[in-house]
Amino acid sequence: MYCLLRPCLQRCLFILKVKPRYVLLCFGAIVLLDFFGAFTHLFEITYDENFVYPYEGNIQELADALRHNEKPNIEPINEYKYPFLLHNPQKCTEAGYSTFHVVYVVKTALEHFERRAAIRKTWGYEKRFFDVPLRTIFLVGTHPDDEELQAKLKIEATKYKDIVQADFIDSYYNNTIKTMMGFKWVVKYCSNSKFYMFCDDDMYISVKNALRFVRNPAKYPGYFKEPKKLAAHKREISSADLIAFQRDIGNFDNASGRRNATIDKRSSVASFIIDETADNNNSRSNAYKGQDKQVNENFGVESKQLLGSNTSVLSRAKRQLFDFELPDDVRLFSGFVFVSSPHRHKSSKWYVSLKEYPYHLWPPYVTAGAYVLSKEALLDMYYTSFYTKHFRFDDIFLGLVAKKAEIEPFHCEDFHFYKKEYTKYNYKYVIASHGYGDPNELLQVWNEQKALGNA
Ligand SMILES: *[C@@H]1O[C@H](CO)[C@@H](O)[C@H](O)[C@H]1NC(C)=O
Ligand SMILES: *[C@@H]1O[C@H](CO)[C@@H](O)[C@H](O)[C@H]1NC(C)=O
Ligand SMILES: *[C@@H]1O[C@H](CO)[C@@H](O)[C@H](O)[C@H]1NC(C)=O
Ligand SMILES: *[C@@H]1O[C@H](CO)[C@@H](O)[C@H](O)[C@H]1NC(C)=O
Ligand SMILES: *[C@@H]1O[C@H](CO)[C@@H](O)[C@H](O)[C@H]1NC(C)=O
Repeated sequence: MYCLLRPCLQRCLFILKVKPRYVLLCFGAIVLLDFFGAFTHLFEITYDENFVYPYEGNIQELADALRHNEKPNIEPINEYKYPFLLHNPQKCTEAGYSTFHVVYVVKTALEHFERRAAIRKTWGYEKRFFDVPLRTIFLVGTHPDDEELQAKLKIEATKYKDIVQADFIDSYYNNTIKTMMGFKWVVKYCSNSKFYMFCDDDMYISVKNALRFVRNPAKYPGYFKEPKKLAAHKREISSADLIAFQRDIGNFDNASGRRNATIDKRSSVASFIIDETADNNNSRSNAYKGQDKQVNENFGVESKQLLGSNTSVLSRAKRQLFDFELPDDVRLFSGFVFVSSPHRHKSSKWYVSLKEYPYHLWPPYVTAGAYVLSKEALLDMYYTSFYTKHFRFDDIFLGLVAKKAEIEPFHCEDFHFYKKEYTKYNYKYVIASHGYGDPNELLQVWNEQKALGNA
């Protein structure tokens, strides 16, 4: 028997000795390639020519109808209907201001009490400038099983009146819900601001640089970089300066119809850039720019310095300065812009299947840590979101929405989505940097930069 089987057995052993290695290797390679998404990549669709994403009709018409309180022909396909548990409706209606300049909308977690406390003392401080009304609001979801946490949050909310809570489970993959509930709250209760800055609670934000940026995003930071001379004779703005400046603005407004001629309803930052260059040879416009630099160096007069001066003249004139920024209907959506591919390796936190998203590229998107929206962009994106299929990553979702609203995200290097290595002197132009989850570090860095005039 054994003799009969021997050749067979030997053969078997041989196969087991050699072949299994190949089989295993082959199998391993396939699993590995699959794990890293090689096959998925093969089946991806080219983004450029083929991109469509539900809903696939004429969205702008539908979004416009919603925005103007008319009934759209097609029902929205995506609504975030989570009731507000804490909604602070009075936040942006306080007497004294009819419009705000920047509203910070901070995504935070319920238990991050100390981060919020640090933000209130640093970049979220609302009374920083006498003449630049700012607001800060913190967005949270819920931890349904933790009543103690909820009670603590409620005490904080009562004390500071800056917490907005919506009824959804607060978790990483619900970030899109958090973001869109932020949009919803803003549209409902705080639509009287020129700009909105959405930030995470572990960010360093330079308030001054953010304001400088929204004044002239296309030229930031160049336009306040060069004039070393100006820095040398730094001084406060006097009323006389401002009145002269007002006069110049008046001239400029009268003289150059060209300036607003090219900015239409759907104006974007790009059209503003073109517009500015077209104006470059206008002597009045140049005069304005000279003034602008000067004023910009000094702008944002801290509240206390202004007390005692003739505030009525100053604030009126200065408000005019701030009104003379980007046109009100500009559609600015800006931050650090990525053009990248979906993660197809299965271990990734950001793994995305072909079914979920079939293209080889994402639409350009702004990294979620910090970004700025003008009011017009925010409204357009909010109403467009009703016709954009939900996506669980908030930055990608906003990229999809922007694409559908035909808003091109505007890139700026000074929004750092990683932590920009800190030294006292290399944060001069930083608008935002990730990596400040330690409240003490934020306080220390921010105060040091504020003392240098950079925050
Ligand atoms: C997101 O929130 C909803 C509503 O509370 C909840 O049903 C869902 O499980 C949450 N998702 C995750 C991933 O936490
Ligand atoms: C600007 O226009 C206003 C009203 O149209 C006019 O009163 C004023 O004189 C004009 N200023 C200049 C410098 O042309
Ligand atoms: C500039 O804008 C104002 C207000 O929107 C408008 O009345 C004026 O006609 C515009 N000027 C030109 C040249 O289009
Ligand atoms: C700019 O203006 C100057 C004088 O007003 C003129 O000589 C020059 O040709 C203009 N340049 C352009 C590019 O229009
Ligand atoms: C402040 O400005 C107003 C308006 O120009 C003027 O009437 C008033 O006299 C000024 N007050 C002081 C204290 O200079």
